Amino acid sequence: MSRENRTMKPTPLSDLLKPPSLDAKLEALKQYGDLRMPDESEPPILNPPVREALHQLMLELSTPPEELALVGVKARLRGIFDGPPGTGKTTLMHHIAARLGLPMLVVEAANVASKYVNQSAEQVAKLFALAREVDVVLFLDELDALATNRSDNSGSVGQEGNKVVIALLQMLDRHDGMVFAATNRRDIIDPAIWRRFQVQMTVDLPEPEQRFAIVKRYSKPLDIDDETIGRISAVLEGASPALIKNVMESVRRDQIIGPKLKQDMSIVAVFRRIAASSAPADEGDQPPLWARPESALAYLADAPWPPALPKAA
Ligand SMILES: Nc1ncnc2c1ncn2[C@@H]1O[C@H](COP(=O)(O)OP(=O)(O)OP(=O)(O)O)[C@@H](O)[C@H]1O
Ligand SMILES: [Mg+2]
Repeated sequence: MSRENRTMKPTPLSDLLKPPSLDAKLEALKQYGDLRMPDESEPPILNPPVREALHQLMLELSTPPEELALVGVKARLRGIFDGPPGTGKTTLMHHIAARLGLPMLVVEAANVASKYVNQSAEQVAKLFALAREVDVVLFLDELDALATNRSDNSGSVGQEGNKVVIALLQMLDRHDGMVFAATNRRDIIDPAIWRRFQVQMTVDLPEPEQRFAIVKRYSKPLDIDDETIGRISAVLEGASPALIKNVMESVRRDQIIGPKLKQDMSIVAVFRRIAASSAPADEGDQPPLWARPESALAYLADAPWPPALPKAA
């Protein structure tokens, strides 16, 4: 027996009888997904209409209920975001939750869905029962995987799907905390579920100005000239913020690894390597860097380069 074990005191009975602590409840919620704490959030860069709508929502959620009651309304606690992958749906909700000082549970459909009949609906009920005890924002990711239109469901899988939809509808009506959701497939979401969300927002691919800002943010801590940022942003037209982040992380990595391999460090060579080792998901139009690589690389060729590396600590 180790020394620690010999000196360990038995847990007093009074401690065992205590109700589970807040931490224990948060811990229990983790079986349903990823728990994100307020201090880990990062503000997304959003197109003006979405940014303004979220600003309004945030203010609404932090306004005293009595004030809204003066005009007979309440803050909206249900919202759904749709739009292409990697546009910041999860990030923006995390940011809102963080501004309200609340943790957010990103509920993954796979952690709720069960292959056993009846169990998925039970899981939904258990999840909400747990969430009722803690102040946490529920974020139902890939809602389409949980709440597919009931008229599309047939067979035994369909029946199980119906039960989940019914359970979700009940929970959405009864739960008094914030429940937000995201989907890339609004076309297949059950309409009764869709209607429960008071805020319905499409988070689109970034406009040129936002794309520039995203390229710039993820170029840090490299010091890349704005002229070059503008050109990179042009060859990434149509890219999601997540793809832009990935490309700019590759640029940063390449600044350290490329010289070790004695590679050509011109901007054309750097972006040729990046284009060859990344491929955007196959949906819609590809950004010029992949659709027309030679003309995109030629457009980058005379941009100010190389960037200054930050000084080593
Ligand atoms: N608008 C944005 N501004 C800055 N960074 C962003 C933005 N959108 C996404 N990112 C970055 O891309 C990554 C993925 O974003 P996120 O998971 O929020 O996208 P999503 O819309 O939820 O995607 P999915 O539909 O695949 O769930 C995050 O690391 C985030 O930092
Ligand atoms: Mg997401």
